Amino acid sequence: MQKTRQPEAPALSQWQQARKGFRWDSVMAELDGLPGGGLNIAHEAVDRHASGALADHVALRWLGRDRTVLEFSYCALSEASNRFANVLAGLGVQPGERVFSLAGRLPELYFAALGSLKHRAVFCPLFAAFGPEPIVQRLQRGGGRVLVTTMRLYRRKVAALRAQLPELKTVLLIDAEQDASADILALRPLLAQASQSYTIGPTDPEDPALLHFTSGTTGMPKGAVHVHQAVLMHRATGSWVLGLQPGDVYWCTADPGWVTGTSYGIIAPFVHGVTNVVDEAEFDAERWYQILAEQRVQVWYTAPTAIRMLMRCGIHPLERFDLSQLRLVLSVGEPLNPEAILWAREALGQPILDTWWQTETGGIAISNLPQLPLRPGSMGQPLPGIEAAILRREEDGSVQELATGEEGELALRRGWPSQFRAYLHEPERTARCFSGDWYLTGDQARIDADGYVWFVGRADDIIKTAGHMVGPFEVESALMEHPAVAEAAVVGLPDPLIGQLVKAYCVLARGHDPDHRLERAILGFARKRLGSAVAPKRLEFVKGLPKTRSGKILRRLLKARELGLPEGDTSTLEEEAS
Ligand code: WT7
Repeated sequence: MQKTRQPEAPALSQWQQARKGFRWDSVMAELDGLPGGGLNIAHEAVDRHASGALADHVALRWLGRDRTVLEFSYCALSEASNRFANVLAGLGVQPGERVFSLAGRLPELYFAALGSLKHRAVFCPLFAAFGPEPIVQRLQRGGGRVLVTTMRLYRRKVAALRAQLPELKTVLLIDAEQDASADILALRPLLAQASQSYTIGPTDPEDPALLHFTSGTTGMPKGAVHVHQAVLMHRATGSWVLGLQPGDVYWCTADPGWVTGTSYGIIAPFVHGVTNVVDEAEFDAERWYQILAEQRVQVWYTAPTAIRMLMRCGIHPLERFDLSQLRLVLSVGEPLNPEAILWAREALGQPILDTWWQTETGGIAISNLPQLPLRPGSMGQPLPGIEAAILRREEDGSVQELATGEEGELALRRGWPSQFRAYLHEPERTARCFSGDWYLTGDQARIDADGYVWFVGRADDIIKTAGHMVGPFEVESALMEHPAVAEAAVVGLPDPLIGQLVKAYCVLARGHDPDHRLERAILGFARKRLGSAVAPKRLEFVKGLPKTRSGKILRRLLKARELGLPEGDTSTLEEEAS
């Protein structure tokens, strides 16, 4: 079943023309701006529609785990986020201070995100499946002033470590009926008492808006700072890539704890005035097909891991579900296997368009488009306003641009609106990502003669598991807190379902025997601290770790050995007794 998609999409040649003459000002002209000047993401996302033709249109359609459905119009969403902004004002939160969330996909999470942006606080969503350690790390690094969470998550993951968070002044519990103490407050009563009107203060496009943590290989997670101007990118990519039109029904399956769930699960859909479907529940093939059919989803943004799970579940959706309204299916986060595209043509009646971006780019930078001939396996082409190149880093820090078809590090020319402005408190780490006019992405890729970009792998040791970045260093540090572990190294091994599987190699401290009981104990210890999304799934005891002469763990070598691949350049190897 083939369908004609997006009749309104410009033809390829028109598109190429548009790319040539493109200026970001033209996107600004599609936005509103604050009445008194300035640019605020939440104004563009909700208030603008709440005072216009879309006021009563459903903005957020929330599907509860138990199948309760709650709907919020643009007007209602504007008021709810105003209430949250007023709660922050009542707590004395100042513009620029950080409001964190740690919650499942509850409506209040969306009110908090938009309300924080209105109040010009910096919103920092955390993934609810993190364990206490990653949560406290991030709250500390980000200097969280307010945490919006649930009773259960607070009790299980934050309470015990609260003393390590002196800057955290207030905890707002979404599901509590009563305040627990002077600084642990029940959110719903506060929202109910707060005024539903709020005037957004002067917001400079360069004011910080969002903080998203992303993993590094050598240090603790980096906090990528994004500004209000990023909304230009969300607006532009919402039309170019997602093809969103006011009134569309749209579903992004990502959690706002990751950048996709914020940029494309909150901002882009609301800016475009669509009905944004949010499902509280986790992946379930049957449920997902039901949602696509029952909600009449037109544009669906999901991830390769989920697609691979759908491919395996044995359901032939078109035999049982009416997907005739589904216009566009897209994916992001890890390589999309060409088999998945073939499968989707049969199973969903259309291909899947792969998109590429990162926490640091803030929005889609490279993408397949309905009007571009699809080359399965390629991430597509750079969007208007984005210039991509393949570079090689020289020893002296300079970069060399490589020729068409050559493999090297993917780089983007600085200056797109949603480019991260810095890693919080880490100017040097920020500077290392840039060389001259180029931002270096850490991805290895090549660009073919027609401008299609092909992903090769990460240039560093970062692990992508079920679409989520895991920094080996963070996991190794947690493992080493176990008394039996003297040293640890963590790598990602290929896995057909989740992309990469986190595996740890541990050197034991004197007096500990490598047996199954200890293995289980260490894995359990890591899961408790780090949470299931980050903790290793496998563990192997080793006598020593391969290191460079300067003492850096050669994770790549561990991986090559595990997979029986060539060991590559081992000239700096200083192997320990094994
Ligand atoms: C890294 C960024 C993408 C936003 C959410 C994740 C990998 C992303 C693709 C793709 C192959 C991809 C890259 C990138 N990645 N999209 N289409 N094909 N790899 O953001 O957690 O910062 O991860 O995800 O390695 O650098 P993130």
